[in-house]
Amino acid sequence: MKADRIHNFNPGPAALPLPVLEEIQESFLNFKGAGMSIVEMSHRSKQFESILGDAVQRTQRLLKLGDRHHVLFLQGGATLQFAMIPMNFLADGRSADYVNTGTWSTNAIKEARGLNKPIQVVASSEDRQFTYIPGRIAFNPDAVYAHITSNNTIRGTQWSRFPDTTGVPLIADMSSDIMSRPFDTGPFGLIYAGAQKNIGPAGVTLVILRDDLLARVPENLPVMLKYTTYTTKNSLYNTPPCFAIYAVQLVLKWIEETVGGLDKMGAVNRAKADRLYGCIDASGGFYRGTAEPASRSQMNVTFRLGGEDLEKRFIEEAVKSGLGGLKGHRSVGGCRASLYNAVSLEAVDALVAFMDFFSKRNG
Ligand SMILES: Cc1ncc(COP(=O)(O)O)c(C=O)c1O
Repeated sequence: MKADRIHNFNPGPAALPLPVLEEIQESFLNFKGAGMSIVEMSHRSKQFESILGDAVQRTQRLLKLGDRHHVLFLQGGATLQFAMIPMNFLADGRSADYVNTGTWSTNAIKEARGLNKPIQVVASSEDRQFTYIPGRIAFNPDAVYAHITSNNTIRGTQWSRFPDTTGVPLIADMSSDIMSRPFDTGPFGLIYAGAQKNIGPAGVTLVILRDDLLARVPENLPVMLKYTTYTTKNSLYNTPPCFAIYAVQLVLKWIEETVGGLDKMGAVNRAKADRLYGCIDASGGFYRGTAEPASRSQMNVTFRLGGEDLEKRFIEEAVKSGLGGLKGHRSVGGCRASLYNAVSLEAVDALVAFMDFFSKRNG
């Protein structure tokens, strides 16, 4: 690690791989001999088109997508997808299923209901403060889609296996675990993710969309809110967030070429999470994981200490030891370590060493 950089456990925007930041820095003033920066260049230039094409192809390879999936780069964050999905796919009055596993699912549900779409919440973990992922869900066979949040950034829960929706297309908000592990994209009609946790900086949203859903897109939506606007123009209908897409392309290259793909990325992420949960579970109750063990997230490890004062001191002393971003979300309090792709095993080891030291001194 560079001497002046901390171990960054921010929940998003979050750590990016150092080689990616270095490459951006190195080519920032003069991108590949063009005599100008990537942020000064036309989005219709050969250079940018090759960046965009490479980002699409790497996404296709990493996720083993077939030719039925479009890879799109949109703006408006994951939050805009909460509205675009029901607007595009529920225009004819048909219904969709939603599973509520926390704040972000709740927001997706609210947005669909606010648009007067007839959606059904078929399962929820609200009864136990969203500390678990519901099992044995009865999805409606005639729903247009079934929406889940694959990883719950605030509560620290994650679907370890995706539910069987018996043919109904799954739609998943993967903002906080996209590209963190391999999975079968076959059942998914749409996957979306704000880039700013696992694959890049803020400002761009990756949307992966299967072509069978496109037939449902109504003509009469505003042009920027229609998926067909992006699928027919290869994400280049208007000026896209060029810099953010460039950074995503470099992160995907790093995952593919340096880490060695999603199997390897998944193994590293599992090892990191195991180490931190191991430390929490071995602390004799000094640290308490808040998620039910079977639903624990590999990405966001949420835990409490014995009281808010102790938690405040823990976070402050961690900062002094070069460990940042450990405060829990303001809506739930406590502590949270986000272990996204760019967070190294070495960073987790440093956190575990600090946590052992802190518990011995304060236990
Ligand atoms: C799972 C999940 N969905 C959606 C969002 C909101 O994303 P955005 O700020 O890109 O709209 C977040 C942000 O943290 C998130 O973690």
